[in-house]
Amino acid sequence: MTAQASSKVLLRALRGECLTPPPIWLMRQAGRYLPEYRKLRAQAANFLEFCYTPSLAVEATLQPIRRFDFDAAIIFSDILVIPDALGRKVEFREGEGPVLGPLEESDALPELDPAQFVRHLAPVYQALTATAAALPPGKTLIGFAGAPWTLACYMVDGRNRQDRFARTRRFAANQPQRFAALIATLADAVILHCRNQIDAGAEAIQLFDSWAEILIDGDDSEMLQRHSLVPMERIAAALRHYRPDVPVIAFPRGVGRHVERYGDCGFAGLSIDGSIERDWAAQTLRGKVTIQGMLDNAVLVEGGDALRRETRAILDAFAGSAFVFNLAHGVLPPTPPENVAELVELVRQGKRP
Ligand code: CP3
Repeated sequence: MTAQASSKVLLRALRGECLTPPPIWLMRQAGRYLPEYRKLRAQAANFLEFCYTPSLAVEATLQPIRRFDFDAAIIFSDILVIPDALGRKVEFREGEGPVLGPLEESDALPELDPAQFVRHLAPVYQALTATAAALPPGKTLIGFAGAPWTLACYMVDGRNRQDRFARTRRFAANQPQRFAALIATLADAVILHCRNQIDAGAEAIQLFDSWAEILIDGDDSEMLQRHSLVPMERIAAALRHYRPDVPVIAFPRGVGRHVERYGDCGFAGLSIDGSIERDWAAQTLRGKVTIQGMLDNAVLVEGGDALRRETRAILDAFAGSAFVFNLAHGVLPPTPPENVAELVELVRQGKRP
């Protein structure tokens, strides 16, 4: 970016401006709920090939922008491209979600070979550069990565067995030093991937710690501190040092009031979910960090009065805050696209200053 600060609404909000209406984009705004996505998806043999074919990834990124005029595009990719680029086996099975070759406690830890890693992920960077060139003016391009803890969960357990990633928690408890080394390698990989996304055209970065909540044990948040907060803080500091003008948004899902501590970690934005009370969040985080969130994705599926009521309540709660409208968690496949169109209209009913 040049010396002149960008006038893009998402970047303004992330710099702390309170905008009416707030900017809006949605996690998983590209995906199976869109018929045009399903058509495009059929052109690739599998999901990873889809992510690594720049022409398809660019098109998937732009589809929701064309249809809904969101304020930001998030590059079409996945958090699991990092384990894939580290040489782990990653597969996406129809109806099953991601399945990885599990990392056993006795296995050698993956190592980061920067040249090989960047070569493997080059199609993601090409897709970012092509998307940046094609994006309508005023729209922000977001790059992203999984946070180390969430990546470790998929790498160690191999898949989500609905047991709160018990194998990963056991690995962390049985071999704390080796687990810390795994988290450190993943943090290095995340930093490298984000730096390359920024070089390729990403104007903001979101870090998804989708499984942060399982690090909390009652009142004990020591594991959350060690495996989520500290590595994410290190990533934010490294990226701030690299490009202070590129804001980083943290999404530590399900952490409730512990979210307050992420407000002091050098993030420009905090994406919050239903584990956090709206009014508490507005009071506690106002002036510290830009809040992003927090519409329940099931309400977006339902639509109608519930959607209108919840949207209004969120807009009212954060009216005096630097705020970005988003969901509490990604768009679900059964979401009717017309509900998304209505949501954008509801949020935009106010006038921009
Ligand atoms: O539009 C966007 O948000 C950008 C693209 C994006 C995808 N995944 C595409 C995708 C982003 C930002 C992600 C992040 C992601 N991926 C997360 C963090 C956010 C979250 O939801 O908690 C996680 C945990 C993953 C891992 C992952 N990828 C899972 C668990 C699944 C299966 C779930 C599902 O919906 O099938 C995926 C597959 C995936 N990633 C799809 C998409 C559009 C669906 C696969 C398909 O089209 O066949």
